[in-house]
Amino acid sequence: MNILQYHDNPRVRRALANIKEQGKIRVLFVCLGNICRSPAAEGLMKEAISDRNSSLQWTIDSAGTGNYHIGDLPDPRMRAHARRRGLTLDHHCRQIKPYDFDDFDLIIGMDASNISNLRRLAPNPEAEEKILPMSDFFGISTKYDYVPDPYYDGAEGFELVLDLLTDATVNLRDTAEAALDNSLA
Ligand code: 4NP
Repeated sequence: MNILQYHDNPRVRRALANIKEQGKIRVLFVCLGNICRSPAAEGLMKEAISDRNSSLQWTIDSAGTGNYHIGDLPDPRMRAHARRRGLTLDHHCRQIKPYDFDDFDLIIGMDASNISNLRRLAPNPEAEEKILPMSDFFGISTKYDYVPDPYYDGAEGFELVLDLLTDATVNLRDTAEAALDNSLA
């Protein structure tokens, strides 16, 4: 259970205050393989901000800490479950690089292992400040405090990931838009 709601979370406030150019936010979602969770987060985030009259300009991408599937489309199971919700996932897997810590404002990991890998890869303390767990954006009603790896699970695991990520991406959008409006202060 996420004790702090995202809008009361000092880590989230600090990260959003660090957005370099006002009006722009660059978000990189990260998991291990970059074929299940993070490309789904990328697709859902893009969907969450589409057709909105937001003055915030978004850059959204995803990457993996591992190098097992570079160049691949997302896992066929994840693509099939997303497609049932009207979402096409067409990201090609890539591994996170040191320059990603310069190119993005928020680097969002799916679970504790992703977060510890990211902390190890961060080139400096400023880069480390950009790392956040996706669970910081979970609504209060979920009993999860991470996005579970669905790779070795069945259909329910993929559906759970899509449910958690749909909630979190909408909350991230709303929190970032509110931060831009200064209504979080
Ligand atoms: P993801 O899931 O980190 O959500 O993309 C995984 C995909 C592949 C592997 C592990 C996790 N793998 O070991 O190949």
